[in-house]
Amino acid sequence: MAAELRPNRLTQALETRRRAGLPVIDLTESNPTRAALEYPRDLLAPLANVGGLLYAPQPFGLIEARRAAAAEYGRRGIPVDAARIVLTTSTSEAYSLLFKLLASPGDEVIVPRPSYPLFEPLTALDGLVARPYDLEYHGMWSIDFASVERSIGPRTRALLVVSPNNPTGSFISHDELERLAAICAPLGVALIADEVFADYELEAGAAASAACPLARRDVLVFGLGGVSKSIGLPQVKLGWIAVAGPERIVSEALERLELVCDTYLSVSTPVQLAAAELLDRGGAIRRQIAARIAVNHGGLQALSAAAPSCHVLRASGGWYAVVQVPTLRSEEELVLDLLTRDGVLVHPGYFYDFPRESYLIVSLLTPEGPFATGVGRMLERAGH
Ligand SMILES: Cc1ncc(COP(=O)(O)O)c(C=O)c1O
Repeated sequence: MAAELRPNRLTQALETRRRAGLPVIDLTESNPTRAALEYPRDLLAPLANVGGLLYAPQPFGLIEARRAAAAEYGRRGIPVDAARIVLTTSTSEAYSLLFKLLASPGDEVIVPRPSYPLFEPLTALDGLVARPYDLEYHGMWSIDFASVERSIGPRTRALLVVSPNNPTGSFISHDELERLAAICAPLGVALIADEVFADYELEAGAAASAACPLARRDVLVFGLGGVSKSIGLPQVKLGWIAVAGPERIVSEALERLELVCDTYLSVSTPVQLAAAELLDRGGAIRRQIAARIAVNHGGLQALSAAAPSCHVLRASGGWYAVVQVPTLRSEEELVLDLLTRDGVLVHPGYFYDFPRESYLIVSLLTPEGPFATGVGRMLERAGH
């Protein structure tokens, strides 16, 4: 399919350029460990805890690590009982465990669009079908409920919410969550709320004024989080699922989820023993990331003010920014031009399933200097 080949052309052009030894300003960097942040050299020392020599497997994880994950919600003002925390190695694994819990091959999961490109392969790998609902932009992002109603059907088992969403930067509002819960609860459809970027706001107060899926008591909710974003340690492989909703339904879900988790027992003991200390120490990384994205977001807005044909869409949180640019050529031609002529790598909107052209997506995690240079070139190229 053409859509699947398109990212390859960009990847090929990137490889050719790198092989030729030509410089690349990478405005797609979303790996914090490659983003020139200052990681203390002994940050991972807690992983050497001698207790890690003993293996005492627990399907949901060691209670001290589950408490540490619950405390992360506490830090954000959301009370979560450690008994309702399930440890995973990553958010991707959490999705897969939940898909196994909630659905059978051929069943459907409703996913936001535009959003994280991994939802398609993640659902497919569990034999499920991803059906989209749209996020629309009218000066701010909101859910198109007509598209939710269109996509939901008798085989729908879960609806995904990403708050703040990648790459739109939109948090779910109270009204939206209320409406989604009212649609899903009577149908027995679970809400999966991916909050991996919840610590990062681009507008002051955005996180606090967003709706809190884990506070629901009327619908089964699975909240997802993890250290890959919250403390910039994707290689440490620790994530979690927090479960909320009606008591009886939550208890049943936990009982069945325990069997799924007991089959894999995938989270390593050393990381579980280290969890509390890592989460504590990692605050220093989180603060660096928060400062980085704030500077870059401000810089992007200032630079785009001088490029009237380009428009930075409003983003309230997360690590990304979306820039709407004139459609003087296809997005694909534009991103290839930007790479081959300007040495700047950005993602095209179609990568995230934007319904129309032209949008460019940049990672605010990019170090400040290259970010400003790259964005300057991008705005210049896109506007002409
Ligand atoms: C919305 C969203 N969820 C999950 C992840 C990945 O998290 P993990 O590394 O825990 O699998 C990402 C990574 O970019 C993401 O954008």
